[in-house]
Amino acid sequence: MSVIPTLLDNDSCDTAIRASFLHFKSDPDLSDDAVEYVEDGLLILKQGRVRQLVNALDWINHLPDGSALYDYSGCLIMPGFIDTHSHYPQTEMIASYGLQLLDWLKQYTFPTEEKFAQRAHADQVAEFFCEQMLRNGTTTSAVFATVHSESVDAIFEAAARRDLCLVAGKVMMDRNAPASLCDDTQQSYQQSADLIHRWHLHGRLHYAVTPRFAPCCSPEQLELCGQLLSEHPDLYLQSHVAENLDEVRWVAELFPHSRSYLDVYDQFGLLGPRAVYAHCIHLDEADRERMADSGAAMAFCPTSNLFLGSGLFSLDAAREHDIRVGLATDVGAGTSFSQLQTLNEAYKVCQLSGHSLSPLKAFHLATLGAAESLYLDHRIGNFDVGKEADFVVLDLEATPLMHRRMQQTDSLEDRLFALMMLGDDRCVQATHVMGKRQYLRERI
Ligand code: GUN
Ligand code: ZN
Repeated sequence: MSVIPTLLDNDSCDTAIRASFLHFKSDPDLSDDAVEYVEDGLLILKQGRVRQLVNALDWINHLPDGSALYDYSGCLIMPGFIDTHSHYPQTEMIASYGLQLLDWLKQYTFPTEEKFAQRAHADQVAEFFCEQMLRNGTTTSAVFATVHSESVDAIFEAAARRDLCLVAGKVMMDRNAPASLCDDTQQSYQQSADLIHRWHLHGRLHYAVTPRFAPCCSPEQLELCGQLLSEHPDLYLQSHVAENLDEVRWVAELFPHSRSYLDVYDQFGLLGPRAVYAHCIHLDEADRERMADSGAAMAFCPTSNLFLGSGLFSLDAAREHDIRVGLATDVGAGTSFSQLQTLNEAYKVCQLSGHSLSPLKAFHLATLGAAESLYLDHRIGNFDVGKEADFVVLDLEATPLMHRRMQQTDSLEDRLFALMMLGDDRCVQATHVMGKRQYLRERI
C-alpha cells in the first residue's frame, strides 16, 4: 500500500516533475533489487535537490500552492548522464579521417589545440561544448582543456553559467609535442596550482590534475603532478593509459624501469581514489589488481576505441576485479556526444569480447556507475533523497523507427535496449540541472 502524504508544504517542495522514472540503487549485475522504476511518478524537489520519488496519482493533488509542475507524462526520466572522459577543445575536429592514435594526435589534435591560446576561441568552443552536453542529457563531465590556463577558465565559466557539474584541468605536457603546446615543467605546476585555487570546489566545479599521457610528460612533470595531489588531497587526476599498442611500446622505451605503462603513473603516486584513466585496453592482471586496490577508475570509451582502432576494452575483466568503470564519450576521438550512441558501441565492443552488456548495466554505467567512478555518488547518479536533481527527459519514440520498434517491446529492458541502440539527441526532450530546466528540445 502506498503512503498517502500527510501534506506537502512550501518547506518540502518547490518543484515537482511528472513522468516515468528509472534509476539505480546499486549495480544491477550484482543485485536483483538495484533498479527502481516508477511508471507514473512524481519527483519532488526542494531547492534543486531530491525530496522524494513517489507515485503521481497519490500525490499530484497535494502539491503546495505556487510550486512549479513540469508534466513530462509519456517520457522516461533518468538521472543526468555522466561522461567520465572527454576533451572539449577537440569538439570541432570530431570525425577526422583515417589515422590511429599517435598520428591522429600529430595531424589533427595538436594543431586544433594550438588555437586555444586565444581566449575568445576557447570561450566559443566551451559554450558550444556545454550546449552539446545539455542537448544530449549529460549533466556531469570530466573534461580535458588544453595546456593554456585560459582554456580552463573558459570551460569552468561556461559550465558554471549552466550550473553543470564539471571535473576539468589544464593539460600538462612538457615534451614530445609541438613547442607551442609544451609547457615549462615548473610553470605547469604553478599554473595548475593557481587554477586549483581559482576553481576547485567552487560550486559544482572540481579540479583535475591533467598530465596528458606519459609520453608527453617528463618524469619531473609527473613528479610534480604527484606533488599537487599530495598538497590538495581531494583533487582529481585524469590521464590516458594503455590505449594503443604503439603507444604502449613507446612508453616502455621512455620508462624502461617501469613494470608496465600503468606502473609509470603508480611510481609517481598518481593512482588512487578520484584518479580516472581513459581507455585501459592493453593492461595485464597485475595492472587490473593495482587499479582495483588503488580505487582508481577506468573510463570506458567505446566509440573512440573503435574509431581509432585502438582495441576492445574488457568490461568483464574490470568487473572480475571489481574496478570502478564509467562510460565516456572521449570527444573528439569519440564520435558522438550522445551517451545513448556511446552505449550502442559499448554493447558491440562487449559482443566482440564474448560477453553481453545488459541494458540495465549499460544505463548504470552512464549514471550511478559513472558517479561512483568520480566519487560523486553521494551527490549525483540517482534520485535518492538529498541528491542534486540533475536529470534527462527521454522520448523513447522520438523517431518513426523508434516508434515502430517500441510497439514490439514487451518489457522495460527491451525498451531500454531499443533506446540505447536507436536513440540519440533526438530523444532528449529536456535536460534539468539542479532541478532547473536548462535545455528544451525545439519541436519542429
Ligand atoms: N592520448 C593522449 N592524448 C590523447 C587524446 O587527446 N585523445 C586520446 N584518445 N588519447 C590520447
Ligand atoms: Zn582522451
